[in-house]
Amino acid sequence: MWLAVVLVVVPLAGWLLWWWNDIWYELMASFGSSKGGSNKLPPGHMGLPVIGEMFTFLRYFKFLRRPDDYINVKRRKYGDGIGMYKTHLFGRPSVIVFSQTAIKYVFRSEESFVLEWPNVELVGKTSLVAVHGKTHARLRSFVSRSINQPEALRQIACIVQPRMISALKSWVKCGRNINAYKEIRKVTFENIGMFFASFEPSPTLDMLGEYFVGLISGIRSYPLNIPGFAYHHGLQCRNKIIAIFREELEKRKNGIEDNDQPMKDLMDGLMKLKDEEGSQLSDMEILDNIVSVLVAGYESTSLATMWAVYYLAKYPKVLQKLREESMSLKKSKSEEFVTSDEMLKMKYTMKVVDETIRMANVAAFIFRTTTKDVNYKGYKIPKGWNVMLWIRYLHTDPENFNDPMCFNPDRWDVPMVPGTYQVFGGGIRICAGNMLARLQLAIFLYHLSTGYKWELVNPDAKMKYLSHPKPEDGVEITFDKL
Ligand code: HEM
Repeated sequence: MWLAVVLVVVPLAGWLLWWWNDIWYELMASFGSSKGGSNKLPPGHMGLPVIGEMFTFLRYFKFLRRPDDYINVKRRKYGDGIGMYKTHLFGRPSVIVFSQTAIKYVFRSEESFVLEWPNVELVGKTSLVAVHGKTHARLRSFVSRSINQPEALRQIACIVQPRMISALKSWVKCGRNINAYKEIRKVTFENIGMFFASFEPSPTLDMLGEYFVGLISGIRSYPLNIPGFAYHHGLQCRNKIIAIFREELEKRKNGIEDNDQPMKDLMDGLMKLKDEEGSQLSDMEILDNIVSVLVAGYESTSLATMWAVYYLAKYPKVLQKLREESMSLKKSKSEEFVTSDEMLKMKYTMKVVDETIRMANVAAFIFRTTTKDVNYKGYKIPKGWNVMLWIRYLHTDPENFNDPMCFNPDRWDVPMVPGTYQVFGGGIRICAGNMLARLQLAIFLYHLSTGYKWELVNPDAKMKYLSHPKPEDGVEITFDKL
């Protein structure tokens, strides 16, 4: 009897558990209407009930530290097929989209695949990341004009340099090794405080920084509004952040406003802008958008800058070429600051910027949700499924980039195959701060390469891939004047 249990029931139960999700979701898909399309789900394996393939995902990202093999293994098993696999991740039936063609298809079909932020109330329900359709287009145009268009970039270039320059000087003075990630985050936040709301470094700005850490952890947490849980703390932090920005907003509304003056900062820009019908943003829209743009821009810019410091230390020949270009600009100038127009014309620097952002893979994948059953190349992606656009894989696939793990800005001498470089996403949700991110990094590289030299303390530091890719030591460096 016991032998029968061991030989038959246990393996059967194991088999059933292993295939449970696949059987269940195939069954659910076959009940749905196919409307002339297929009811067949994409190839792939959906893992155990509830947990799905979470352990396999964590194994490649956290323990083996080979994130790209997560897709390579699937590719070997199921072939390239339609450029997507089904799986079950983050508690939801999901599709991983990894090929350039399939990613392009999702970006273009924006009505079938929508962006849904987890715990969106923390970033703000009226922020541009949370709204859709015409409201999104209107807000996006406001935000983009305030931070990403040539006029805004010219002003931001002036705003960010004093803090960058003084941060670099202070790294030398501190007389010990520098944790580049930590220091870069500090100066990035100071700059953001400045060009978002003209906040000078102060205890309020430090507090704002702390509240942001709490808010960001809340976004990724389970939504339990109970004291002691990250989500609850995130909500409290959001309220405090909103209170700080609201006070500033009220002060400005009560002051004398001159609409003809150039934009002072993001808040000023958002307060002044009008759409085609002449309507302006409400106070809540202004505040929500400041918070959401801060969430989108702070960590991403800090990480990309940290990676530039890392790669330039690892590739001295690249640094030398970058320095030569920067020095030639410096010699031609009488003032310390560079302009955005000068920077964006620096060919080699901009190649270093693009190569850094390619390899940094700050956003390894981005999420969409299907709003209806979608039929793609004879397969069905059911309504409500999680769709993960694995953009990291585009940048690390040797079919798209020759020797992809080599930091080689010269690869940008020839234009990329369209659709292979999607670091800023695509479609209507493409990063609203992409030019600003590239410009900030370029300006930082200019001041760094013309004034300083540095070395990695742990050149063989292990990599972490969650929540974002970075060396375990946060890029510890020795730092000195040139
Ligand atoms: C290297 C730095 C950056 C990277 C790699 C990056 C990447 C991305 C990506 C991949 C998306 C698309 C997300 C999606 O489709 O779900 C996105 C959206 C966005 N990014 Fe960035 N970003 C960077 C810097 C910035 C900066 C500096 C800002 C502004 C200060 C910014 C503001 C935004 C906003 C507002 C969105 C949402 C756009 C929308 O929903 O319409 N980003 N970013």
